[in-house]
Amino acid sequence: MTATGTDLRRGPFREGDRVQLTDPKGRLHTITLTPGKQFHTHRGHITHDELIGAPDGSTVTNTAGVEYLALRPLLADYVMSMPRGAAVVYPKDAGQIVTMGDVFPGAVVVEAGVGSGALSMSLLRAVGDTGTVHSFERREDFAAIAKANARAFFGTDHPAWTVTVGDLVEELPAAVEPGTVDRVVLDMLAPWECLDVVAEALVPGGLLICYVATATQLSKVAEAMREHGGYTEPSAWESLVRGWHLEGLAVRPQHRMHGHTGFLITTRRLAPDTAPPLRKRRPSKGAYGEDAASSGDAADTGPVEHLGPVTVPDEDWTPEALGERVASEKKVRRLRRSMGLLEEAGHDA
Ligand SMILES: C[S@@+](CC[C@H](N)C(=O)[O-])C[C@H]1O[C@@H](n2cnc3c(N)ncnc32)[C@H](O)[C@@H]1O
Repeated sequence: MTATGTDLRRGPFREGDRVQLTDPKGRLHTITLTPGKQFHTHRGHITHDELIGAPDGSTVTNTAGVEYLALRPLLADYVMSMPRGAAVVYPKDAGQIVTMGDVFPGAVVVEAGVGSGALSMSLLRAVGDTGTVHSFERREDFAAIAKANARAFFGTDHPAWTVTVGDLVEELPAAVEPGTVDRVVLDMLAPWECLDVVAEALVPGGLLICYVATATQLSKVAEAMREHGGYTEPSAWESLVRGWHLEGLAVRPQHRMHGHTGFLITTRRLAPDTAPPLRKRRPSKGAYGEDAASSGDAADTGPVEHLGPVTVPDEDWTPEALGERVASEKKVRRLRRSMGLLEEAGHDA
């Protein structure tokens, strides 16, 4: 028996396959192979039947003589072109999450929120059919889009995946036995609100990795992890990937890149009743504001207590304040209709 989705990624193109066509200018077009259908551009067309049965990596010439390269999209291509209600985790960050989050085959993973399902798909691939990914999403409409995206990619509902609609804080305690989850991945606005339930769910030594878009969220979650007492000292980083232009002697970095996607922060669950060792390095003078600066000498290396971040009221952490881009209700409804997730009358399919 092969792992879920493997068969779809191999062999000649079949009816229902998504195929990525690259034109001579490098522009991409994604089509779903349907017998009798045609792919039209302003110059000529290709019939889908010409591609059905052809090997992956074939070229096909349209009626105006324009040649296209046909390839099955990789997961990284697919997530960038699939329908989305919420912003997706980019492939470069999904790769970091899987590796630095140590997501292993057979692992029990909890994820929130699901958004469009991009990260869920990388997690499912990493845990494989014998693992478990319990995903939680507050918004029913986003969960439906994510499930449809994953089903289209894997060709079936992935056996390792369960999606619960609801808030992680409310749903997680009932969904998993305490101390049974190997890894938790949070991509949401306020991960600090989830630290108690996550600590309860994680196995001792289990890992939590959070993806946040802004430095203010990063600071807030780092301080909350320290304050909780059940986690190790967190570490944080970001990754910048710069593509290269490769043409003759003009081999150089590309002019454009994604300058910022998000920050990652990891911490491990301590064993029950274990206090984190006191940090030996004192924060630098003023790191925690005026009071902290006046409470001691920054050069002193004696243990210190954590003094907490500058506080911002909970209600101020809004998607707008953090510059988060969320699709409008109208766009989400349009998406769901185009994906067959809404009936004409407007009810869920
Ligand atoms: C940026 S999106 C996630 C994108 C997703 N990782 C992907 O790659 O497609 C953040 C999602 O978290 C959901 N969310 C926020 N807080 C949540 C919570 N406490 N429990 C469950 N879902 C939550 C939001 O509704 C939103 O859909």
